[in-house]
Amino acid sequence: MTDLTLLKLGGSLITDKLRERAPRAEVLARLADEIRAALEQRPDLRLVLGHGSGSFGHVPARRYGTRGGVRTPEQWRGFVAVWQQARALNQIVVEALLDAGLPAIALPPSAAVLAEDGRVKEWPLAPLTAALDHRLVPVINGDVIFDTLRGGTILSTEDLFLHVARCLHPRRILLAGLEDGVYEDFPARTRRVERITPRNFDTVLPFLGQSAGVDVTGGMAGKVRSLVELAREDARIETWIFSGEQPGAVQAALLGEARGTRISA
Ligand code: IPE
Repeated sequence: MTDLTLLKLGGSLITDKLRERAPRAEVLARLADEIRAALEQRPDLRLVLGHGSGSFGHVPARRYGTRGGVRTPEQWRGFVAVWQQARALNQIVVEALLDAGLPAIALPPSAAVLAEDGRVKEWPLAPLTAALDHRLVPVINGDVIFDTLRGGTILSTEDLFLHVARCLHPRRILLAGLEDGVYEDFPARTRRVERITPRNFDTVLPFLGQSAGVDVTGGMAGKVRSLVELAREDARIETWIFSGEQPGAVQAALLGEARGTRISA
């Protein structure tokens, strides 16, 4: 698909990860404006948006251990509690996008994806590609997912992007968070890793610490590992880990001027 970009708005960027159920409304409004402006500047750009769960879904997800599997009635109640939180934030995000004038449409993964042991097994993408063909902006989110082995699980936005990338071959995957990349000396942050490749991944791995706040979906190390795997499979895809905190950064990234840590083959 020509010039397809996947953009994630990280949970740490759009929520206050240290306070339960706290959206960052002004940040969301600004990001939505930047996305709209970028699409105005590049009408040929096809965009799939994804977003994390931050202080919404991660809190019940940890309480019930949902990612590890869902078996007991109590755990299924937990599954629904996580879904409820992910869904609530999704509505807030989609409203912000619509308010900015974007033709956003939510395609909730919990209703469409089937996993097997924590990996996407089935996910028909026809609705998503139809949305793109009609110049809409499909929105997905880290979500609870039915799983043939675990009963239920949670897939992060990155887990879902991996499947979309394998099927639709985007040029760029943009992961906007709070950190402006991966640092060799986190938390001092004086030496940024400019590039991660399948070849240097093992040397970079010790720098990929856990993220601040609650995170049930593997933190930075798990995310980078799967994106390096993707770069190995498809040398034309590049992923950027960057900060969406500076005004204009997301817009610039969408226009091909990302600054941060690049993951590519
Ligand atoms: C987490 O998704 C999903 C749930 C906990 C329901 P992500 O892994 O994509 O979210 P963030 O960016 O870490 O918040």
